[in-house]
Amino acid sequence: MINDAHERRTLHGAVDFTMMYVAHDAFTRHLERLVSAIEQGSAAAPGTSARWELFKKQLQVHHTAEDVSLWPRLRAAVTGPDEVAVLDAMELEHAQIDPHLDRVDAALAARGGADPASSVWDLMSGLGAHMRHEENEALPLVETYLGPPGWAAFVGDIRKTQGVRGGATYFPWLLDGATEETSAVILKVLPPPVRFVYRRVWAPRYRKSVS
Ligand SMILES: [Fe+2]
Repeated sequence: MINDAHERRTLHGAVDFTMMYVAHDAFTRHLERLVSAIEQGSAAAPGTSARWELFKKQLQVHHTAEDVSLWPRLRAAVTGPDEVAVLDAMELEHAQIDPHLDRVDAALAARGGADPASSVWDLMSGLGAHMRHEENEALPLVETYLGPPGWAAFVGDIRKTQGVRGGATYFPWLLDGATEETSAVILKVLPPPVRFVYRRVWAPRYRKSVS
């Protein structure tokens, strides 16, 4: 795992990476909530467990989409060895996150080893370093080599694999704790009838599931 303490360098090029940044922020926010629930003695509460299961599911969807649809497309387009090395690092770092997930699973199930809060902190640190590396080194390559058409193809692949069913879980999870400004920007990508379903069905059902 890299030890990249850099801040995000937000890109303002031709590709709109908002959805990626918002997803990365959601991963961080949900882990912070998990730590605070654990520290307040709610490690075994059903809401904590539901949040953790959702976090794992969303991270798996996110990383799989990148591994299957984004990095291979980019690998076929980049030219320099340094650029190939960035893509190698993306795949390696994804694989390095999995043991962290297993450790949190074990700690939450009280199967010995690390205490739950410190195992979540470790995950947060590893995932945070990976996400900054991706944002600052890999997304500029997407901007340069794939541009808006390549990014649109990646987003299209996610829509195809996740469908409405995936969106029903993804959007309320993504926007749980997001600012109103961010929520407004993200919800604009949904057609008005789907936005209506989000407000009336998806969001209330999600809130119930994690309460
Ligand atoms: Fe990502």
